[in-house]
Amino acid sequence: KLVQHQDGSLLFEFGKDLGDLTKNIHKLLGSRHPFLNTVSKYYFKSEGKRIRPLLVLLMSQATSIAEKQYKIDTTDFYQITDKPLTKHNDLLSYNNKDTIYYPTFSSSGTIILPTQRRLAEIIEMIHTASLLHDDVIDNSQMRRNDISANLYFGNKMTILAGDFLLARASLALARLRNPEVIELIATIIANLVEGEFMQLKNVQNGTMSIFEYYIEKTYMKTASLMAKSCQAASVLGGATLEVSEIAYTYGRNLGLAFQLIDDMLDFMTTDEELGKPTGADLKLGLATAPVLYALVEYPELGPLIKRKFSQDGDVEKARGLVYKSNGIEQTKLLATSHCQKAIDAITRLPKSDARNALVELTQKVLTRRK
Ligand code: FPP
Ligand code: MG
Ligand code: MG
Repeated sequence: KLVQHQDGSLLFEFGKDLGDLTKNIHKLLGSRHPFLNTVSKYYFKSEGKRIRPLLVLLMSQATSIAEKQYKIDTTDFYQITDKPLTKHNDLLSYNNKDTIYYPTFSSSGTIILPTQRRLAEIIEMIHTASLLHDDVIDNSQMRRNDISANLYFGNKMTILAGDFLLARASLALARLRNPEVIELIATIIANLVEGEFMQLKNVQNGTMSIFEYYIEKTYMKTASLMAKSCQAASVLGGATLEVSEIAYTYGRNLGLAFQLIDDMLDFMTTDEELGKPTGADLKLGLATAPVLYALVEYPELGPLIKRKFSQDGDVEKARGLVYKSNGIEQTKLLATSHCQKAIDAITRLPKSDARNALVELTQKVLTRRK
C-alpha cells in the first residue's frame, strides 16, 4: 500500500529502501571540502515527496515480472560497489566505502536489481541539482518548508553544489556500465535545460499553438525525467522493447499530469500547505495551463501574457480572470486524462503489487495538495 507521510514523502512497502536512499546519496556526495558537503546535502535534509525514486523502484518491479528470462540466482546479479574502478579517481575526495546492494525479491515475485536501486539515487540527485539551479533562476525564498539554498548559502555556492551533484550522479551512472542507460540519463539532463530555456525565452513558431508549446515545455522540464527514468529502470532489468515503451509511456503521462497539477496548485493552496510560495508563476511572468485555458474565455489576457504580466496590476487581473474562468477545472481534467493514459499503458503489464501501486500513484498525483 502506498501511504503519504506528514513530511509529504510517499512510501510503498519498501519504505526502508527509500530510507537508505538518502543515506546512500550522502555517501555519493562525500567531498573533502566541508562547506561543499553542507551545501550539496542541504536539500536532502528534509525529504521531499521522493516520487521519482519511488517511480524507478516500482517500475523496476512492475517490469521485472514481465521478463521471464530472469534466472533467479543471486550470484548472477551485478553488485554495485563504490570503490573507484580507475586510477584517475580522486580517492581522497570520494567516499570509497562499499555500498553493496543485493537483489530484492518481493512475495509476488518481482525483483529490484542493485543497478535499479542505484538508478533511483542517481535520478533523485539529478532532480535535486535541477532544483538548486532552479531556485537561483527563480530567485526563490523557500523550498520544502525551509529557507531555499540560494537564500541560505548564496547563488554561487548553490550553482556549484548543483554542478557537484550532477558530477557525482554522472560518476555513479558511469559505473552502471550500461551505455543505453547513460544515453537516456544524459538526455534527461539536456531536456531539463532545454525546458528551462523554453520557459525563459519563448521561441514559439507559427506551426505550434501556445498550448502545444506549453505542453512541449512541460515534457522537457518535468515529464522527460519521469519517462526516461522509468524506461531506464526497465532497460536495466533487461526489458524487451515493448516493455520499455510501456514504461516510457507511463512515465511520460504521469509526468505531464504531475506538472499540470503543480501549475494548478500554484493558483490554489497556501504557502504553508505547499511548502513553497504559491502564486509564483504569474510573478515570474509564466502563463501555465490555468491561464492558457482562461485565455480562450477571456482573450483580453493575450496582451498580459505577451508582456509577461509586467505592468502594475497585471498579476492580480490575470489571477482574477483565471478564477472566473474554468481554467482550473480544465487543467485538472487534462491531468486526469494523462493519468488515464498512464493507467492504460501500465495495465498492459502482468498483474503485480508494484503495478497496482503505479495505478494508485496516478491517483495520488491528481489529489495531492503539495
Ligand atoms: C522546477 O520547476 C524546476 C524544474 C522542473 C527544472 C529546472 C531545470 C533547470 C534549472 C535546468 C538546469 C538543470 C540541471 C540538471 C542542473 P518550477 O520552478 O516550476 O517549480 P518550483 O515551484 O518547485 O520551483
Ligand atoms: Mg522554481
Ligand atoms: Mg522554475
